[in-house]
Amino acid sequence: MSTDTQATGRTDGVAETGANTLSVTDNRTGRTYEIDITDGTVRAMDFRQIKVDDDDFGLMTYDPAFTNTAAARSAITYIDGDAGILEYRGYPIEQLAEQSTFIEVAYLLVHGELPSQKQLDEWMHEITIHTFVHENVKDFIKGFRHDAHPMGMLLGSVGALSTFYPDANQIRDADNRHLQTIRLIAKMPTLAAFAYRHSQGMPYVYPDNDLRYPGNFLNMMYKMTELKYEPDPRLARALDILFILHADHEQNASTSAVRGVGSTQVDPYSAVAAGVAALYGPLHGGANEAVLRMLRRIETKDNIPDFMTGVKNGDERLMGFGHRVYKNYDPRAKIIKAAAEDVFEVAGRNPLIDIATEMERIALEDDYFVSRKLYPNVDFYSGLIYEALGLPVSMFPVLFAIGRTAGWIAQWLELVQDKEQKIARPRQIYTGERRRDYVPLDQRS
Ligand code: CMC
Repeated sequence: MSTDTQATGRTDGVAETGANTLSVTDNRTGRTYEIDITDGTVRAMDFRQIKVDDDDFGLMTYDPAFTNTAAARSAITYIDGDAGILEYRGYPIEQLAEQSTFIEVAYLLVHGELPSQKQLDEWMHEITIHTFVHENVKDFIKGFRHDAHPMGMLLGSVGALSTFYPDANQIRDADNRHLQTIRLIAKMPTLAAFAYRHSQGMPYVYPDNDLRYPGNFLNMMYKMTELKYEPDPRLARALDILFILHADHEQNASTSAVRGVGSTQVDPYSAVAAGVAALYGPLHGGANEAVLRMLRRIETKDNIPDFMTGVKNGDERLMGFGHRVYKNYDPRAKIIKAAAEDVFEVAGRNPLIDIATEMERIALEDDYFVSRKLYPNVDFYSGLIYEALGLPVSMFPVLFAIGRTAGWIAQWLELVQDKEQKIARPRQIYTGERRRDYVPLDQRS
């Protein structure tokens, strides 16, 4: 809301009244406007009334990459990037990683509260009985080239699920939304494992409903000729922790993609496919893959100083470092670093951990990184665990996507029930030519 008043003339910036408003003076006209401040934000639309004259469109805000624009009110994930705090529905990530399971965390993200034993049993049962995919999905995945990137296969196959469940476009029906939520969380590991087996030229393994979520995923990935696959509980637990840590991260690039596409009221499979596409990029979920490639390229500790010089000269980035939101140690990186040691006890030590640890030590003492508040993020150590589990680097972002599906669907559910949301449609500052007459081809110079 606003009122159009004359400027008070006060210029020292000291608040006089304690009112929750922002006084804005348009120096083009000398007019002052009172803009409401709610939850530490002003509404961009409140600036539209600020005009030079009646024909003026009104003031817009310009924020490429949305570095200072809140696009949603959300009650799912809280981050304090300066303090290095991450909470799902108010529960600290450290406690969830230590005491919870991914399935329970998915329930928490979707429903807002931790489940009772009965609710958890029902949730787990529903997810377990939806892990199978239609047989045609297998044929569909078989159609990819032998060397197709598994993230590309996941992207295509999750989008294709919308064609298997055409009723998923009934997004106003709560029961329907619930069914698609279950299906997405349940089928993502199956699609991921099928993509992996395809890239290995190995037969697909069906879900084993006797196993828990992470154990079943290991089964679909690694089962060979044994009658019953017995997952190592320590590896299954490490995987579960990784899924928990990746489950949500408020309005990151892939979640914004899910919300942006979901705002068109398309089905959730298509919206989640947009999330997978965004996560594929090396600045987002593809970073864990890039970290491993970087560590392999560095090869020995002796090569670290040269590499760091290249980073500081701007020739390349230290992958797995830095974050848009965290200006402190990413709390997930700490947990992963500890989990990595547990995995190494079972699967053997990954020698690249020594290079990574040394790089972290050097970076945290170097003014370039310190002054820019660049710390290890979730992806700096996660790839080392995935590699110890025997996964090829191309599967790393796929693992990220399995965990993040819980967050994407929780955010999508919040979006479609939020009365304030409309189709996402940013504005632009037009910088091109204005109206000019078409020139026939033979008259162009
Ligand atoms: N290595 C070297 N310099 C860096 C890095 C890095 N990894 N990250 C940021 N900087 C520098 C950057 O060059 C800039 O310096 P200057 O002020 O001199 O121009 C300054 O730090 C600020 O960086 P920015 O690019 O403005 O920061 P951003 O918020 O736009 O980017 C980021 C965030 C994550 C894309 C970036 O830090 C990055 O590219 N990191 C490496 C990729 C990576 O690890 N991504 C995973 C993110 S965590 C998992 C996820 O959520 O996907």
